[in-house]
Amino acid sequence: GLPERVTIWEVGARDGLQNESAVVPVEVKLEFLDRLAAAGLGVLEATSFVHPKWVPQLADAEDLLARLTRAEGVSYPVLVPNERGLDRALAAGVRHIAVFGSATESFAKRNLNRTLDEQFAMFEPVVARARAEGLDVRAYVSMCFGDQWEGPVPPAQVAAVGRRLMEMGCSQLSLGDTIGVATPGLVESVIGAVNAAGVPTSRVAVHFHDTYGQALSNTLAALRLGVTTVDSSAGGLGGCPYAESATGNLATEDLVWMLDGLGVETGVDLDKLADTSAWMAERLGRPSPSRVVRALRG
Ligand code: HMG
Ligand code: MG
Repeated sequence: GLPERVTIWEVGARDGLQNESAVVPVEVKLEFLDRLAAAGLGVLEATSFVHPKWVPQLADAEDLLARLTRAEGVSYPVLVPNERGLDRALAAGVRHIAVFGSATESFAKRNLNRTLDEQFAMFEPVVARARAEGLDVRAYVSMCFGDQWEGPVPPAQVAAVGRRLMEMGCSQLSLGDTIGVATPGLVESVIGAVNAAGVPTSRVAVHFHDTYGQALSNTLAALRLGVTTVDSSAGGLGGCPYAESATGNLATEDLVWMLDGLGVETGVDLDKLADTSAWMAERLGRPSPSRVVRALRG
């Protein structure tokens, strides 16, 4: 069976824009977020409080949140890697954060400048303090379905990382296919391993990148297992021609088209969303890679 309703966790403003070579002006980001809220998206990942040298595209996080008009009923989570990031997020009035771990040593080193064990030591005080402040904390795990440097990643290794993060007090576990190599059978294996490690499917979200065109099939496999939160990026933002690992997320339009067809509720107005992505594509100076956006607005 399929869920009646799916929550779309829109990551375009964060995962999308962090990978665009163009630095998008804060005014454009603000209009983007306003339009996404008006299109009916209820979770808008807004930005990251990471080191500005690591991700210059999101160096305007403070400015963005200070000027953001928060729409009623919409949550605006942000990425936070460490206590310095949490300080900044709290000062900006954030109520919902996400820590982001890696399933592999190679990516922990490259993304966080930490070993696998050190990443947990970095997140532990962040989650504890955030929870004490009444914040909701999501945990991402990257490279759940394969790693650019290590190749296949054992599902049990993903599950062990996910379990440790959930034991810290995170409320949701987003399984990331950072390089977009997953296929539906592997999705079943990884979710099965995560369940076996004690994390129920009700707490699992999926985060697919569409590098090999498998993101929708993988999403459907996850939905059939009972997953009800799916990450996606408006217009499939985030494609970078230079890095295999930075291909765009599943496009929100492609996801909504499929869910509309299946009769699964999302609350999203596909027309308004496609308008938004067509508008954003103009700002970025390149067409949206989303098949649905091209079909509707091409
Ligand atoms: P580090 O260099 O090891 O940091 O980076 P450090 O702790 O040694 O500190 C060095 C300096 O940075 C210090 O300043 C800190 O204050 C400063 P100094 O004392 O030398 O003047 N600093 C900061 N400044 C601002 N904000 C901060 C911060 N932290 C330290 N938060 C660090 C470690 C984690 C900070 C760095 O590696 C980093 O920022 N990484 C973020 C990388 C990132 O954002 N990647 C993309 C998101 S993950 C993703 O996209 C995957 C996902 O989509 C799921 C999927 O697809 O798989 C989520
Ligand atoms: Mg991602």
